[in-house]
Amino acid sequence: MATAGLTLEAIAPLMIERVRAGQSVVRLHSGDPSLYSAIHEQIQILAAAEIAFEVIPGISAFQAAAAKLNAELTIPGLVQSIILTRISGRTQVPETEELEALAAHQTSLCLYLSARHVEAAQARLMVHYPADTPVAICYRLGWPDEQIHLVSLDQMATVTRDVDLIRTTLYVVSPALGAAKARSRLYNPDHTHLFRPRPSQTQT
Ligand SMILES: C[S@@+](CC[C@H](N)C(=O)[O-])C[C@H]1O[C@@H](n2cnc3c(N)ncnc32)[C@H](O)[C@@H]1O
Repeated sequence: MATAGLTLEAIAPLMIERVRAGQSVVRLHSGDPSLYSAIHEQIQILAAAEIAFEVIPGISAFQAAAAKLNAELTIPGLVQSIILTRISGRTQVPETEELEALAAHQTSLCLYLSARHVEAAQARLMVHYPADTPVAICYRLGWPDEQIHLVSLDQMATVTRDVDLIRTTLYVVSPALGAAKARSRLYNPDHTHLFRPRPSQTQT
């Protein structure tokens, strides 16, 4: 059943009644349910009704984007953290998480739910990120009408408006997308670890 047009007050009884009637209910959300999925309120209602449930993880849009871009968002010596966030819209972001404050870390930053406010987002990001920081504008990843535009940060808003994106758009802002050659320690011959000890340690 499509639930986009329903309120929580309508959805919850549908789930509860069917489970109590002995049926299995799947509540399908896009991406991973741990972010921007409004499952918190559903979990509380189901728990209060003593309905057992299980949350199944999914692939979030930022992970789909990285795969489509053939990119790792954590590159040694360049960037080792990823921030998943959004700009304030009808849902307000707490003051301590304002985009400008998060941008100060210059991490890989994945911006959800923000295409409508892309001018404000770009301006806040540019307070700290250089203007030539690569940005992947990702629209409807995985769908037949998918679009991916790789641009510099100072073009983020212009390109978004030119191609007329409002919904289902994720921005991946990351120095990693323009990274030069880099190497991790994991497969480096100079780096030993449990599964690849020093040659002398492996001799019998
Ligand atoms: C309500 S949130 C849901 C996020 C979802 N739980 C996830 O983990 O991807 C919707 C936002 O996620 C992003 N998004 C979800 N699916 C997407 C897709 N297929 N392509 C690009 N962005 C997507 C967009 O930023 C969109 O505005």
